[in-house]
Amino acid sequence: MPLVSSLELIKKAKEKKVAIAAFNIHNLETIQAVIEGASEERAPVIIQTTPGTLKHAGIEYIGVIVKKAADMYNIPVALHVDHCPSFNTIVQCIKNNYTSVMIDGANLEYEENVKLVKRVTDMAHAVGIQVEGEIGRIGGVEDDMFVNSDEAALTIPSEAKKFVEDTGIDTLAIAIGTAHGMYKGEPKLDFDRLSAIEAIVDVPLVLHGASGVPDDSIKEAIKRGIAKINIATELKNPMAEAIAGTFAKNKEENDPRNYMGAAREAVKEVVKKKIRLCGSSGLADEF
Ligand code: 13P
Repeated sequence: MPLVSSLELIKKAKEKKVAIAAFNIHNLETIQAVIEGASEERAPVIIQTTPGTLKHAGIEYIGVIVKKAADMYNIPVALHVDHCPSFNTIVQCIKNNYTSVMIDGANLEYEENVKLVKRVTDMAHAVGIQVEGEIGRIGGVEDDMFVNSDEAALTIPSEAKKFVEDTGIDTLAIAIGTAHGMYKGEPKLDFDRLSAIEAIVDVPLVLHGASGVPDDSIKEAIKRGIAKINIATELKNPMAEAIAGTFAKNKEENDPRNYMGAAREAVKEVVKKKIRLCGSSGLADEF
């Protein structure tokens, strides 16, 4: 199928009280793992890249490969840029097949943040592309972005409502106690805060930092209105372990098809498990 709009997937997921799994990919094998895993689960899926991955792999390569992958499989696939601070990079993404974008102005003062996000939203909407924004600040590490626990800030419901109205964004990422990367202890999500945001914000809500969050908490978050779940680290870890495992068995291994093939299979298993957790398995034809 041609690449589809993330927003349409997320809106329908919200109606059905499920979530769309959004996986951060890094290379050809992780794109294949996500597409094959989603196809085996007959699930709609979002493939996303951070600006760091764009720098590593190239926007043109990613845009063409994901478009081709979507064409080859009969499931709805969207392509999204995650935590992008740059207007220009977002324009490049849109020119290269991305169907939604996240603009991240979290390190700016509120008024400057709104100005940047609104500028992106106005431009993106003019060409039919949807925009994810974030208010509050999710802690942890992603790419070269490190937000320590002092800087991390939970989303305030009234501020979330105002931010959506001020910017015109289509989906909102909220901070309710998750963080990027793995957790030292068990993360405690602030579900009352989630429900309070959901009650007054009109756009679908996104949960970042889902790796390492217990399954029951993910299910509860979906029940309370989260319609997109971002997963990065839980794909990176099995990939690294599979590669390390291949070399542990044979330290002379030099064939990328062997160690990257093992990595692809390991990532695919996690993709399938997360899709089932999101409740979107078997729904491809309903989207
Ligand atoms: P994790 O690395 O914790 O899965 O976070 C992913 C994410 O939120 C990407 O934006």
